[in-house]
Amino acid sequence: MSSVQKAVIPVAGLGTRVLPASKSIPKEMLPVVDKPVIQHVVEEAVKSGIKEIILVTRSGKGVIEDHFDKHYELEAELSRKGKTEILESIQNIVPADVTISSVRQPEALGLGHAIQCAASLVNNSPFVVILPDVLVNNYTNNSTDLSKMISAYEATGASQIMVEAVPEDKVQMYGITDCEGKTPSAGESVAISRMVEKPAPEEAPSNLAVVGRYVLPGEIMQLLDETKPGAGGEIQLTDALDTLLQSNPVEAYRMMGKTYDCGSKLGYLQAHLAYGLQHPETKDGLTAFLNDLGK
Ligand code: G1P
Repeated sequence: MSSVQKAVIPVAGLGTRVLPASKSIPKEMLPVVDKPVIQHVVEEAVKSGIKEIILVTRSGKGVIEDHFDKHYELEAELSRKGKTEILESIQNIVPADVTISSVRQPEALGLGHAIQCAASLVNNSPFVVILPDVLVNNYTNNSTDLSKMISAYEATGASQIMVEAVPEDKVQMYGITDCEGKTPSAGESVAISRMVEKPAPEEAPSNLAVVGRYVLPGEIMQLLDETKPGAGGEIQLTDALDTLLQSNPVEAYRMMGKTYDCGSKLGYLQAHLAYGLQHPETKDGLTAFLNDLGK
């Protein structure tokens, strides 16, 4: 059994980039085709072998926990009507051997602080962090990028940070890795010598950006505890990782799949199209519609 069983998913963000859609619905509950974004992300974790999912949440986001809970009335009604297929789709969102728990982040003090809120549940085990804004689509691959990162962590003991190359004028939106001029091929990892959160383009050590999947040792919680506010006045996970790599190996894993930033309007629309073109119920109709639009 893998030593990496836990995933921390921070869902306490306010979703300001997708307002007004996210005013009273958490952005994580916006659907991509027929499932909320958070369900796509939880399914990715489960497919990667995760057994304990820890949501870091806040007031007003209770519907996220409800989504993964049993809905007796709905189930009874679907069962009475004999709608077996839909019934199964809401009953088996996560397998019986996967637990979902939650902790609160009382104040929006940054991603590093959100992760730290889960420290007692992580309980010093290695764990993954999944940022739910980012959907990672591994298309027809049987395994996910995240499961490859977990295997790399188990084989080498090096923390794994998923990266992809971004345009140079976009580096100030991301955590950026310094890999001493090396660029890993897709599916490979190389050592990181420095990390910097949202650098100005002229100060960025590369264009290899952190895209929202991490495999980390339990010790990162102690480092987060000692991390001072950084970019944007927030406690940054990137800053704690920059400290970690001074004494422990930390590697940049270059992703194979495609990412969609559902925290932005354009990324969210792109996700709909990409996932809609893969969904058996919508792919043919959507393909025909897009061909027609292009005429
Ligand atoms: C966070 C991280 C950043 C990472 C990004 C990926 O930033 O702090 O290092 O590159 O997610 O989406 P945020 O987008 O929350 O500002």
